[in-house]
Amino acid sequence: MHNADFIFGVATASFQIEGAADQRLPCIWDTFCSTPGKIADGSDGLTACEHVKFWRDDVELIASLGVDAYRLSISWPRVITQNGELNAEGVKFYCDLLDALNAKGIKPFVTLYHWDLPAHIEANGGWLNRQTAFLYADYVEKIVTAFGARVYSYATFNEPFCSAFLGYEAGVHAPGLTGQKNGRQAAHHILLAHGLGLQVLRRLSPHTINGIVLNFTPCYANSSAEADLRATQAADEYHNLWYLMPIMTGRYPYVMAQIPEQNRPHIEAGDMQLISAPLDFLGINFYTRRFYSAPNEPDALFQELPHRAPLTDIGWEIYPQSFTKLLTDLHQRFQLPPIYITENGAAMADEYVAGQVHDVGRLAYYQSHIGAVNDAMEQGVDVRGYFAWSLMDNFEWAEGYLKRFGIVYVDYLTQQRTIKLSGLAYRDMLAARRNSN
Ligand code: NOJ
Repeated sequence: MHNADFIFGVATASFQIEGAADQRLPCIWDTFCSTPGKIADGSDGLTACEHVKFWRDDVELIASLGVDAYRLSISWPRVITQNGELNAEGVKFYCDLLDALNAKGIKPFVTLYHWDLPAHIEANGGWLNRQTAFLYADYVEKIVTAFGARVYSYATFNEPFCSAFLGYEAGVHAPGLTGQKNGRQAAHHILLAHGLGLQVLRRLSPHTINGIVLNFTPCYANSSAEADLRATQAADEYHNLWYLMPIMTGRYPYVMAQIPEQNRPHIEAGDMQLISAPLDFLGINFYTRRFYSAPNEPDALFQELPHRAPLTDIGWEIYPQSFTKLLTDLHQRFQLPPIYITENGAAMADEYVAGQVHDVGRLAYYQSHIGAVNDAMEQGVDVRGYFAWSLMDNFEWAEGYLKRFGIVYVDYLTQQRTIKLSGLAYRDMLAARRNSN
């Protein structure tokens, strides 16, 4: 981190900030939001932060923080029409945005899929349909060609765990389907799409750093009893390693053998080889850890326990030591490519008072977690960058607008942005760093 090339940035995602839903096709999150009871405050992404309208101001805001990079995602339903052609208006929006970032010397880190699958593709089975992986590769081919030299780094997917497990197995994210078979099959098709997308990137975009973003929630055993340790290992394989191992080793973790045969994914010859092609980087999103114990239901592999204090406003434990341990453990266990921390941050119950947001809790979270990354680097882990989640408060999926993750406060009535104390501290840290390099 003392290295001048280390990249500090801020991150967002299309559905969470853009609004302007009338200028794109509907996506699975539009459908999910209009289903009563799915979103905590009954809200949707139709307007969000109105970033499509205010993007020029938002680029100024990003530049004012002095960051090296901005991580954004592309809305597939904004850039591809129902017939599979490029949508000129949507492409222009992103090209102008990317040009403005580059003009300010801010490196664009582009995520090609951050959960907003076009609704018409879901109508044909979405990620349960193998064909979706090929539609994805076609979308990547078209958009990457259109962007040309504007991008610094591409991530094929953001957090496949959330799309597959939360969306198709637990049903708490769009499209809201349930069942182990669905979740495992969706995960495999997303991994396949990653492999196909990476092939396209290798061919059409060799100048960019190409990889994938995975989320990790380190698993801790509730006790040292053998059954708890075994369950915790199963949870780690099911939630975390399920995505990393196919990519790094071409094999699913051992817990696959504990899944009833009828629930295992259908895998075709050649899939695992495609999925395990080398990456230029691995993006890691980290927020918290979890405790597990032996299952108390007959078919379960593990039991997930409540978070322990101290908690953020979204109810997740604050435990930075597990961030360092995650990074050093992964480093020891796998031949990792360079790592970028593509997300890290905290939801806090912010209060806007007299033009200021005094978010000392979030500031402390950032300090301890950036310190945790630094500790891992001192132990030999090759981390090249760190992105705060998020640039600004936005639509927090099933939590709607109730949970604020921004280092910039958003007043959703006026769309006024106010840099919080944590954002000012991030800016000052980056300025001090620039002056010392
Ligand atoms: C992970 C996701 O990538 C992002 O969209 C979300 O808002 C944050 N974590 C916080 O939950």
